[in-house]
Amino acid sequence: MKKTLAALASLLSLVLLTMPTSCYYDNEEDLYGPDTTACDTAAIRYSVEIKKILEDNCNSCHLPTGVTYSSIPFETHAQLQEVALNGKLVDRTNSISAPMPQTGLMDKCSRLKLEAWVKAGAPNN
Ligand code: HEC
Repeated sequence: MKKTLAALASLLSLVLLTMPTSCYYDNEEDLYGPDTTACDTAAIRYSVEIKKILEDNCNSCHLPTGVTYSSIPFETHAQLQEVALNGKLVDRTNSISAPMPQTGLMDKCSRLKLEAWVKAGAPNN
């Protein structure tokens, strides 16, 4: 019994000794460098970033042949601008209970880009 305890104690001290005692690089930026995946929401354009988000996440339903094209089409800028300016676009893309797309929220950066564009007045740029 004593032997087992002694063995355990030496094992424990070995573990403690080999553990790093201090860690200077304890924040992500020092460890991995600047976050290159940071979300750039400056100067979001309908014709580039927004159309890409729609293409990747919405068009299967909101363009011709999509389930909701007849009632909620996103074919033209004016059509999307309407839901942007009445608040429904950002509401639904951030909604936990009724998200768009219906399968679940998009990645945060796509949602931030949509929001930035809506805040800028949903311009046709
Ligand atoms: C799988 C099909 C599908 C996808 C993908 C989808 N939608 Fe929808 N969307 C619908 C349907 C069906 C409705 C109508 C029923 C409802 O409001 O839930 C709707 C409703 C909406 C509404 C409410 C409009 C209103 O006037 O009430 C908005 C805004 C919207 N979608 C935005 C989006 C956006 C933005 C995307 C992509 C990020 C997207 N949807 C992706 C099917 C889809």
